[in-house]
Amino acid sequence: MEGLRRDVGRWAPAAVLTCAVLLMMSSEVSAVRYIVGGNMGWTSNVNYTVWAQGKHFYVGDWLFFVYDRNQMNVLEVNSTDYENCISDHPLHNWTTGAGRDVVPLNVTKTRYFISGKGFCFGGMKVAIHIEKPPPPPTLSPQISDSGGLLNSFRGQIFLPVVFAAAAVWDSFLLLL
Ligand SMILES: *[C@@H]1O[C@H](CO)[C@@H](O)[C@H](O)[C@H]1NC(C)=O
Ligand SMILES: *[C@@H]1O[C@H](CO)[C@@H](O)[C@H](O)[C@H]1NC(C)=O
Ligand SMILES: *[C@@H]1O[C@H](CO)[C@@H](O)[C@H](O)[C@H]1NC(C)=O
Ligand SMILES: *[C@@H]1O[C@H](CO)[C@@H](O)[C@H](O)[C@H]1NC(C)=O
Repeated sequence: MEGLRRDVGRWAPAAVLTCAVLLMMSSEVSAVRYIVGGNMGWTSNVNYTVWAQGKHFYVGDWLFFVYDRNQMNVLEVNSTDYENCISDHPLHNWTTGAGRDVVPLNVTKTRYFISGKGFCFGGMKVAIHIEKPPPPPTLSPQISDSGGLLNSFRGQIFLPVVFAAAAVWDSFLLLL
């Protein structure tokens, strides 16, 4: 019995480590930092509706606004103020003063960003539709919640280990 326990004990740390590494990798893959406007940054004469088109923004991603701090700013507003370019009462003022502002996308909803100082009227506004993160491509589509993700990783890593450990037990029992 002593020998059996030692053998199973040898498997467990490797299984836990493998699982932890895989979970870390999966969360790193999903987070993206978007520079708003790409190479152009946050400025006039960019159509940000076109920029955002076809992109998928997921919870956990970030927006990075890069701009001329002496001219523009970054204000989060509601949909009405977005349409009408009203910057008097923003929901959130993301302007830090450096011309480099990071916005974490931590809730699933549509968020609206404009530049004040008159630039919104020229088109300096962007609406970001934030979605729930998709399951990793190797997993089946019905697994979408984080609990399901963890369980499927457990299924992939722990179950083979359990079977392997069971096989070790069996061979020991046969020897006895
Ligand atoms: C946006 O805020 C303004 C001012 O607080 C308010 O009048 C308007 O109804 C709001 N719009 C929405 C869609 O919440
Ligand atoms: C936003 O915050 C910045 C930095 O604190 C400040 O200088 C600026 O006046 C604020 N803008 C608005 C519209 O509240
Ligand atoms: C999202 O991030 C903002 C700014 O960091 C924070 O104030 C807010 O509480 C966060 N919301 C959630 C649901 O985590
Ligand atoms: C940006 O492009 C979209 C789609 O082509 C268009 O509907 C919209 O009017 C443009 N916005 C501006 C501010 O030019």
